[in-house]
Amino acid sequence: MCGIVGYIGTRQEAAPLLLEGLTRLEHRGYDSAGVAVMSARGVRVAKRAGRVRDLQDALPKRFAGKAGIGHTRWATHGPATDANAHPHADTKGDVAVVHNGIIDNAAALRAELVDAGVTLASDTDTEVIAHLVGRSEADTLEGKVAEALARLDGTYGLAVLHADFPDRLVVARNGSPLIVGVGDKEMHVASDLAALVRYTTTVAHLEDGEIATITAAGFTTYRADLTHTSRTAAHIDVDLAAYDVDSRDGHMLREMHEQPAAAERVLRGRLVERFGTAHLGGLNMDVRETRAIQRVKILGCGSAYYVGQMGASLIEELARIPADAEAASEFRYRDPVIEPDTLYVAVSQSGETIDTLLAVQEIRRKGGRVIGLVNVVGSAIAREVDGGVYLHAGPEVAVASTKALTTMFLGFSLLALQLGRVRYLSVADGKRMVAGLQALPEQIEQVLALSDELVEVAEQLAAAQSLFFVGRVRGFPVAREGAQKFKEITYRHAEAYQTSELKHGPLALISPAVPTVAVVPHDELTDRNVGALHEIAARGGPLVVVTHAEVDLGDVPCRRIDVPRSERELDPILLTLPLQLLAFHAATHLGLDVDKPRNLAKSVTVE
Ligand code: F6R
Repeated sequence: MCGIVGYIGTRQEAAPLLLEGLTRLEHRGYDSAGVAVMSARGVRVAKRAGRVRDLQDALPKRFAGKAGIGHTRWATHGPATDANAHPHADTKGDVAVVHNGIIDNAAALRAELVDAGVTLASDTDTEVIAHLVGRSEADTLEGKVAEALARLDGTYGLAVLHADFPDRLVVARNGSPLIVGVGDKEMHVASDLAALVRYTTTVAHLEDGEIATITAAGFTTYRADLTHTSRTAAHIDVDLAAYDVDSRDGHMLREMHEQPAAAERVLRGRLVERFGTAHLGGLNMDVRETRAIQRVKILGCGSAYYVGQMGASLIEELARIPADAEAASEFRYRDPVIEPDTLYVAVSQSGETIDTLLAVQEIRRKGGRVIGLVNVVGSAIAREVDGGVYLHAGPEVAVASTKALTTMFLGFSLLALQLGRVRYLSVADGKRMVAGLQALPEQIEQVLALSDELVEVAEQLAAAQSLFFVGRVRGFPVAREGAQKFKEITYRHAEAYQTSELKHGPLALISPAVPTVAVVPHDELTDRNVGALHEIAARGGPLVVVTHAEVDLGDVPCRRIDVPRSERELDPILLTLPLQLLAFHAATHLGLDVDKPRNLAKSVTVE
């Protein structure tokens, strides 16, 4: 959440590089943007509400400087206005600060600054940092920043420019990612690899509590007391083409259509046909340890939480280990009992979601074993866990998660299979699952081919202000994810419910104006589900039913969408795909920015 970039060199102008970097980070926050450069006459700031391209259009013609910092914002304190956009400056305009995170004691610090006669120019928590740095009497910029940081409670990834120290940027990290990139007589800083990889693949991830001085010649890292740490940069292997994403047709559409390839990648080399099992080397657990697991607790946020619920079902069904999923954002605050024989699983596309990261840290603090299902290699969660499974979905840019979610489901399928096969799952059932998984990429392709057929029904759904998404047991997390996608990008009220619970209250809302999207797989609950469809239809509720061709819906008036059947445990992912397509087409029909829905950001790095 919020993107940060920084640059210092000897040959190139900073501003174009900063703007390019911000464009690549815009999915992290897109309500306002700004840059500051070290010009011959001191620090200059340009910032405004709106997208990076608005900033680019408004940038003064002469905005020269070979060092600078930049920011794309996702508002926490104060609305998206020019004044609240970063960088923030001190009273004299000597200091510029960009910040990602939340300063919890900002209100007290703001009051203290006002009492001291400072006129605050914004509603933000970040501005206090600029003033604290500006007012510090330390001799060095590092000293000023360290003094300011000592006053802060909260999280930050930040970068500071100071007119009196034109040869350097000082950056710091506590809870929000910050990466230093080493170039040839130039250095880059970013909150995300995506902004760096075009320039350098020699990088250093700062650790929490670290401060760094960045000059054109290199970088030096310190602890909060300014004693040195020994961080060095290392070469990382990245697929540059994967970062050079083509956004002509929009990211979400492209990413949905990348799902068959992403599914192949996450399965590649991990299925053992002969023994009907999976092999996940990264779990770092031997068979005895795997057998000793008594429970599985899955933690994730948003869509990752819903796919975690699908994962919990897979684990219970295949491995017969009690499993459940919980929203990581709530977990740590209920002082959870951490059990030594429970396997905790953190699931995250970005690997940066602060709620999930804090849950992981809480589990480890209490001695629990936690593994990660993570997409972004080297991300904070990936580095924090005891072992894990990389999802290999490739960079996901659209705010609404699609291909990462599919790979999460497959990651859980592999985990469930491996756990199952060291317990009670037979070779025959294991082989059945392996074959089912191998067939999925092709079946995903078949569902995506329905896209054009779904445009009309999506447009009908878009006309409603309020909708239900319903499902039972395996179908319920599918409904939750469907409602999430729909509300996130269409701004329609979409509520997920267990089909069985409708009659206990929400049926009162069903009317011709409130459509229901029902998930009705061919399984042991089909008859019960069809019964509920009749109850909805009897009350005039329009119905869209995502189902299998084998399901007899009788005379229920509805628009049915048939998806191919897989093994029953794997069906949820194929049932999820039409819901992505419906949300996409509905949002497109409404003329909305599908890739950057209002109020949201791709990586949620604040609590
Ligand atoms: C919804 C969506 C979010 C994320 C959630 C967790 O489409 O993308 O709900 O799933 O913010 O993000 P990660 O997976 O990065 O931890």
